[in-house]
Amino acid sequence: MDRPYLDLGPLGPLRGRLRVPGDKSVTHRGLMLLALSEGEGRLFYPLKAGDTLSTARAMQALGAEVLEEGPHFRVRGQGLRLKEPEDVVDCGNAGTLMRLLLGILSGQEGLFAVLTGDASLRRRPMGRVAEPLRAMGAAIEGREGGRKAPLAVRGGTLRGITYTLPVPSAQVKSALLLAGLFAEGVTEVVEPVPTRDHTERLFHHFGLPLVKEGQRIRTQRAEPFPAKDLTVPGDFSSAAFFLVAALIVPDSEVTVEGVGLNPTRTGLLEVLREMGGDLEWQVVEGEAGEPVGWIRARYSPLKGVSVDPSLIPLMVDEVPILAAAAAWAEGETYIPNLSELRVKESDRVAAIAQNLRALGVAVEEGPDWLRIQGGGVRPGEVEPFHDHRIAMAFAVAGLRVGVRIHEPQWAEISYPGFFRDLKRLCGAS
Ligand code: S3P
Repeated sequence: MDRPYLDLGPLGPLRGRLRVPGDKSVTHRGLMLLALSEGEGRLFYPLKAGDTLSTARAMQALGAEVLEEGPHFRVRGQGLRLKEPEDVVDCGNAGTLMRLLLGILSGQEGLFAVLTGDASLRRRPMGRVAEPLRAMGAAIEGREGGRKAPLAVRGGTLRGITYTLPVPSAQVKSALLLAGLFAEGVTEVVEPVPTRDHTERLFHHFGLPLVKEGQRIRTQRAEPFPAKDLTVPGDFSSAAFFLVAALIVPDSEVTVEGVGLNPTRTGLLEVLREMGGDLEWQVVEGEAGEPVGWIRARYSPLKGVSVDPSLIPLMVDEVPILAAAAAWAEGETYIPNLSELRVKESDRVAAIAQNLRALGVAVEEGPDWLRIQGGGVRPGEVEPFHDHRIAMAFAVAGLRVGVRIHEPQWAEISYPGFFRDLKRLCGAS
């Protein structure tokens, strides 16, 4: 069967202002916590896209009501005790949903659930959450000894543990903190390398137990808690595509407004500035404990850099778009500390290397690093490998010269309307 494709560009410059869709991480967590709350709360400006619609459906299957109200969601919580789902819960492409839900379901005494997902999600490692949850007393079975979905969970009595994250992962941290809401005693996650802290901020928003002391984050059993409205900031990870597009297409100037500027997410800004990117940003307000503001990017001749490995966990989803910037920079860019990228929606190290080569860029790929020779790209065809961020990053990489994107619909996992917004800023339709 013929696969869909999109021919984009050559296009530019990008000029104007933009609001990007709501933050994916905050939307997943907002839906889950509202589902566990008592009464009704609204989630304003959530992300309504493939991944978070999977979460809305999952929370409905567990007894919450999720209603659309214009661009918002109204959620009627089921409370701390969820309903047993009547069917398999399909997490689609969403790793955050599957991992965080495993934490919640582990503590639902007597409840049985089976979680599955698409071909990409069924390949991703789940042992990293199943193992510490089992140490808390969870009953989780699945393919490859419970390391791959489909996974079956039988909720039971949990006890708190202290767990040091072996890899920097906000999903593992969050799964354990959510399980801790149902556990006896204290659940403590030790995080040697900081990762996105949306779960912690939302626990504060909903008045759930949480204490942070240096690298140690502790929670304990929750009492029933009331629903509370929540506004979702624009997704920094979605804004990143337009910022880089503006930096690499001559004469561009783009301002993204209403975007989340949580410092555990914005490592990319530091790297792009070091590359010579003309970027300004400012926090103007706070929404549910999240800093929100604007970012402006202007076309800039970029130069290659060696990226500080400690920045990678603060920009873990932005490496594909950084690779696009590196392809247009002068000289070489070295990106280390990429082992986690091998287990994202695709093997992103391999996907980046293959697509850069398809656009005529010289790239070396190591087990956990990439070395990219800049100087621009030539027209070519790119492959998303079932991965929204690869589709969007390579649309931007090829925008100036023209690019064919196979299966462009993958962008809809986190950004329906991405290509429309990109063309609009370029003055095209
Ligand atoms: C996310 C955490 C990150 C990130 C993912 C969303 C989250 O994954 O890549 O897109 O919402 O907690 P890891 O925890 O696997 O690093």
